[in-house]
Amino acid sequence: MEIHRYEKIWFGVAVLLIVAFIGTVAYGAVGAGIEMVDDDGGTIDPNNLSDHERFGDTGVHQVGDGEFEVNMIAVHPSFIPNDIEIPEGSTVTFYMTASDVTHGFNIAGTNVNSMIIPGQITEITVEFDESGTYGFVCHEYCGSLHHEMEGQIQVVP
Ligand code: CUA
Repeated sequence: MEIHRYEKIWFGVAVLLIVAFIGTVAYGAVGAGIEMVDDDGGTIDPNNLSDHERFGDTGVHQVGDGEFEVNMIAVHPSFIPNDIEIPEGSTVTFYMTASDVTHGFNIAGTNVNSMIIPGQITEITVEFDESGTYGFVCHEYCGSLHHEMEGQIQVVP
């Protein structure tokens, strides 16, 4: 029996699409420089944050010339700290973890967007080159007051 010519063509197109889809996923995971939350930031006992060297000491810490670290705990419906002030031109590394449920961290108007997960430490480094007030919100539904979970970063000249 002979396979119809169009059937062969469509079979070929289907195989190509499958390969392309798998390739897209693999590229997104490996090649595009997208950072996923993983063990790089480390793991932590969410029930014992106060004894941790970082999360027992939440807040903004200057660690060098124009370099800051922010140790932040997300706990419904708050970020601790939720009002951060740094000078213009700073490089800030956020270390974040959650003590209750999964939260999100999105700085409005930027591509800073991550999840904050109990038991994991999320690490993100951001440069703030322009002064202004940058709001951030939780964008993972985390409970009845999810919509109130927010804060701000004041970048001062
Ligand atoms: Cu925290 Cu939504």
